[in-house]
Amino acid sequence: TVELNPTLLPLEWLLGTWECDEPGEGSFPTIKPFRYTETLHFSHVGQPVINFMFNAFHAESKKPMHRECGFVRMQPGTNRVAFIIAQNSGLVEIEEGELTGQQLSLQSQQLARTSFAKEPYVKQICRVFQLRPDGKLEQTVSMATDNQPLIQHLRITYRQSS
Ligand code: HEM
Repeated sequence: TVELNPTLLPLEWLLGTWECDEPGEGSFPTIKPFRYTETLHFSHVGQPVINFMFNAFHAESKKPMHRECGFVRMQPGTNRVAFIIAQNSGLVEIEEGELTGQQLSLQSQQLARTSFAKEPYVKQICRVFQLRPDGKLEQTVSMATDNQPLIQHLRITYRQSS
C-alpha cells in the first residue's frame, strides 16, 4: 500500500468503496421519477490525485446505466477541490468547489460533449458530497438544461463497504 499524498489528507474520508444502502432517487421536471443503485470507488496511487469510478444500475433489472470516472485534485494549502469527470453519456466536465469539514460543494466550470450527444444539453451541474454524522455518504446532483432551470436530478446515500 502506498502512502496517501499529504495534499489529499483533508479528503482521506472519501477513499474506499461506497455502496448505496437503499436505491437512490432520480427526478427532473421532464422525466418520470426513477430509482437506481450506485457504487463509488475512490482510490489513489500516491500522486496528489484521487482516482474515481461511479457506476449506476437500474434498481430492479440491475442493468448498467450511468457511469462516470475521473480524478479529484486539491489546490495545495487551500480548501479548493476540482473534479475532472468523463461520463458515458458523452459529457465531460470540470467541477470546482470547496471542502468544508466533510462536505464538498461543487459547481460545473466547463462542460463539453460529443457532437452527437442526446438533447437536451446540460448547461450547469451542482453536486454535493457530505459524510454525515451517522457515517453515511450522501450525494445530491442538481442540473440545468437547455429548457429547465437548476433543479435536483439525483439524491442517494451510501455506506462504506471497504
Ligand atoms: C435523464 C443528465 C446522472 C438516470 C437525464 C437527462 C439529462 C441527464 C440531461 C435528460 C433530461 C431531460 O430529458 O430533460 C445527467 C447528468 C448526470 C446524470 C449530467 C450526472 C452528473 C444520472 C445517474 C442516473 C441517471 C447517476 C442513474 C441511473 C437518468 C434517467 C433519465 C435521465 C433514468 C431519464 C431517461 C433518460 O433520459 O435516459 N439525465 N444525469 N442520470 N437520467 Fe441523468
